[in-house]
Amino acid sequence: MARTIQEWMTGLKAGELPTVEELAYLLTVRGDDSRLLLQAADSVRAAVMGDAVHIRGIIEFSNICRNDCLYCGIRRSNQTVTRYRIPDEEILETAAHAKEWGCGTVVLQSGEDPYYTAERISKLVRAIHAMDLAITLSLGVRPRAELAAFREAGADRYLLRFETCNREQFARLHPDAPFEERIRCLDDLRELGFQVGSGFMIGLPGASLEDLARDLLFTRQLQLDMIGCGPFLAHPDTPLRESGQLPDKSVYYHTIALLRLLNPHAHIPATTAFDALDKESGRNRVLEGGANVFMPNLTPGKYRKLYLLYPDKPCVDEEGGACMLCIRGRLRALGRKMATGRGDAWRLTNAGGNNA
Ligand code: 5AD
Ligand code: FES
Repeated sequence: MARTIQEWMTGLKAGELPTVEELAYLLTVRGDDSRLLLQAADSVRAAVMGDAVHIRGIIEFSNICRNDCLYCGIRRSNQTVTRYRIPDEEILETAAHAKEWGCGTVVLQSGEDPYYTAERISKLVRAIHAMDLAITLSLGVRPRAELAAFREAGADRYLLRFETCNREQFARLHPDAPFEERIRCLDDLRELGFQVGSGFMIGLPGASLEDLARDLLFTRQLQLDMIGCGPFLAHPDTPLRESGQLPDKSVYYHTIALLRLLNPHAHIPATTAFDALDKESGRNRVLEGGANVFMPNLTPGKYRKLYLLYPDKPCVDEEGGACMLCIRGRLRALGRKMATGRGDAWRLTNAGGNNA
């Protein structure tokens, strides 16, 4: 590659779109070049999204799932999991705590659990909406009519990762539903006025650097308000138990940096799986390399160990309050502050074009 990393960064900041091969190269830079890549992402994050970190408290309210995704620890075939549903009152109590603790948003996440009908979810959404919290749902693929009902009830945002844009790999990893259906769901969400989040896993078994580059480019096509990506981690009770990590760990961090450079206006969380990759420092490093969102786990203690999508998930022995103290400490150490507002999509809060 004839270009220096500085030239690359200038180009990316000016909105240049690299090719798959160029991105694959940028994912593997080393030494000073790696540092410059992370710094460039951090400076774009600061200039466009500001220094405040948005806090979205996540409540994992059911680990029951009708699907059998090959990578996921709560897939229906995993008989070793004790299944739970958190009673509605306890979900609402937790949401009320989230508000007291300073979260602007509550994220309700579950497996694809048919018990939670549109009506049941809408009831929860209405109650949380009345607490003056923004609501993100992460419930998997749902029919358009159900998504419309959630929106009607007051849900603001929806997260649904595409996981990989390689159709063959997607089909191999997801025996239950095709890629097109997921894309249809993301289209429906956008049309219904949701703020839309998606993303992918980094280092899926069989994925090449070029696949990873294509996933990065795909996030641009989807025009996302939020992009959540984290390392794939092999769960021992899944068919992918033998799969290893990427040989070069910095690729995981470079992915987030490039995500920021390609999507300057997106909300990008420092996802929990980074703390499983690098204990206690992973999420901090991501916050210093492009991310501007943190999602503390607010799931009540007794359920936490049962929502293990991947091994070594952090904070499983904590309660929600502890995770809030932890994030305050982390931000202080990083010289960042906690955002006070809802942290809506950039396109909604910056219609006039300023960077507030
Ligand atoms: N490793 C890392 N991330 C995983 N997820 C599910 N299983 C794993 C795993 N083994 C991620 C998926 C899903 C999100 C909720 O968690 O990307 O969309
Ligand atoms: Fe539950 Fe994939 S295993 S949605």
